[in-house]
Amino acid sequence: MKNTGKNQWYDGYLYGWFFDPVETANRQMILDFVPEGSTVLDVGCGTGRLALELAAKCRHVTGVDLSRRMLAYCERQKNKRGVKNLDFAFGDSTRLAQDLDRSYDVAVTSLALHEMGPDERHATVRAMAAVADRLVISDHTVPQPATLPGFVIHLMEWSLGGRDIFPLYREYVVSGGILGALERCGLSPDRQRMDRHGIRHVVTASTRTDVLRDPLP
Ligand SMILES: C[S@@+](CC[C@H](N)C(=O)[O-])C[C@H]1O[C@@H](n2cnc3c(N)ncnc32)[C@H](O)[C@@H]1O
Repeated sequence: MKNTGKNQWYDGYLYGWFFDPVETANRQMILDFVPEGSTVLDVGCGTGRLALELAAKCRHVTGVDLSRRMLAYCERQKNKRGVKNLDFAFGDSTRLAQDLDRSYDVAVTSLALHEMGPDERHATVRAMAAVADRLVISDHTVPQPATLPGFVIHLMEWSLGGRDIFPLYREYVVSGGILGALERCGLSPDRQRMDRHGIRHVVTASTRTDVLRDPLP
């Protein structure tokens, strides 16, 4: 059945004001793993901030999300900056091959997998692998470090995620985070990085064997 949408109370301006500014280091790690001139799909693109930064170094970027409020925010940011090589679309991460009529060099996703239950998470990773040669996946590190930043992550997920998202986050942690999801989908991690606080984990995986011979920058 087609997904008709997902919306959180903080989607749009609130996310853009409060969360985007603290994700600079996370976005930079993702940008470092995406080769210049690539075609890129950003899955669960949120406010489009990463997609806009990718567009500056890539041939073309498509952002998909299930929140119409996030997508409206994306369109405003894109138009304000006059970016031409970037499209946003309403789309379900589990149906990428059906909903998008093209494939990509790289599919990225940031902070979306921990908000999904296991079926949706694994279907998303498989759907990304079906439409792209290389995956760049970023999300909360598992386990979080026993430090103040690590505690803040748990606290934010509990307080802001609430009854809907916190149980999904807990299951994401118990099932091994990004590495657990890749293993479940039969994919092997290629490269990995963490930010300086150890709270964000970025993992790449190749979906084509010949891409493994073409090292990342
Ligand atoms: C926490 S936000 C992360 C946004 C952005 N990628 C970032 O790094 O800041 C998660 C986003 O994933 C989107 N999302 C969740 N499930 C999705 C799905 N099945 N298909 C497409 N987007 C989805 C949500 O609407 C939300 O915008």
